[in-house]
This record gives sequence, structure tokens and C-alpha cells, in this order.
Amino acid sequence: EGAKVYAACQGCHQANGAGVPGAFPPLARHVPAILAAPGGRAYLPLVVLGGLQGPIEVEGVAYNTPMPAFASLSDAQVAAVLNHVASSWGNAALLKDFKPYTAEEVRALRRPLTPQQVYAQRAKLGLK
Ligand code: HEM
Repeated sequence: EGAKVYAACQGCHQANGAGVPGAFPPLARHVPAILAAPGGRAYLPLVVLGGLQGPIEVEGVAYNTPMPAFASLSDAQVAAVLNHVASSWGNAALLKDFKPYTAEEVRALRRPLTPQQVYAQRAKLGLK
């Protein structure tokens, strides 16, 4: 299921999770880094549901392309795609005590946020 939902992501983030430097950030290595940040776990569903717009830096490379919202995905689909990206491309080995997202967890976090508002949430994580 997660791999099927990821079909909607891979045009930008690529099948191997490496992204496109300067255009689309990688999810390989980077998703574990987000999960390791305080608040990172609750932030990831917001990105999928609300998109993201604002300048960021990942592994020393700058990005400032808007990511569209995927608010039409179900809670279960959001959980599945996040569990997919957390466990793919070597990411699982970088995670400590990762508990898979559940649909209930996503439902509790779901709210209408603009990509700019998600960016404001990101600022609280202490990521670059
Ligand atoms: C950012 C996941 C679809 C383009 C991100 C981030 C995550 C993510 C977790 C946050 C990185 C961070 O905060 O450091 C996903 C997933 C997708 C998806 C799971 C499918 C459901 C897409 C698509 C595009 C895209 C289709 C291109 C049209 C981007 C861009 C950023 C980003 C440009 C950085 C935005 C900025 O610089 O503010 N994505 N993404 N993503 N994504 Fe996606």
C-alpha cells in the first residue's frame, strides 16, 4: 500500500529516494533526520497533507520549490506512505525505536494548513 501511494511522490523525490539536488530534496537519510528532531514525527504527516513552501537546506543543498498538498489521501494512505519512506533506501537502519504510523495518529494530526503554515511548523524543529 505504501509503495503504491509513493507512486505519487516519486516523480519528484525519485524511486530511489534521492530527490533531485537543488529541486526536490532527498527522502533517503533525510526522513530519519526529521524523525530524530523533536516534533519531527508529528511534522511529517503535515507535510504530506499540507505541502511545504519556503527555503530549506538538506545535507548542505538549498531547496525552495513548493511541494503540493496531498490532502485527498486517506489517513491510512498517509500512514502507509510515511511508513514506506521510513523503511526504504536504508532508512530503517538509521531509525531508533521507530513505531509505524497508524491511521488514527494521522487523523489526530490532520488539519487544513497551507504550505506556508507547514513551513512555519518546520521552523520549530531546529532543522536547516
Ligand atoms: C519536501 C515527502 C510528493 C516536492 C518534502 C518533505 C517530505 C516530503 C517529508 C519535507 C522535507 C523537509 O521538511 O526537510 C513527500 C511525500 C510525497 C511527496 C511522502 C508523496 C505523498 C512530492 C511531489 C513533489 C514534491 C509530487 C513535486 C511536485 C517537494 C519539494 C520539497 C518537498 C520541492 C521541498 C519544499 C521546500 O523547499 O519548501 N517532501 N513528498 N514532493 N517535496 Fe515532497
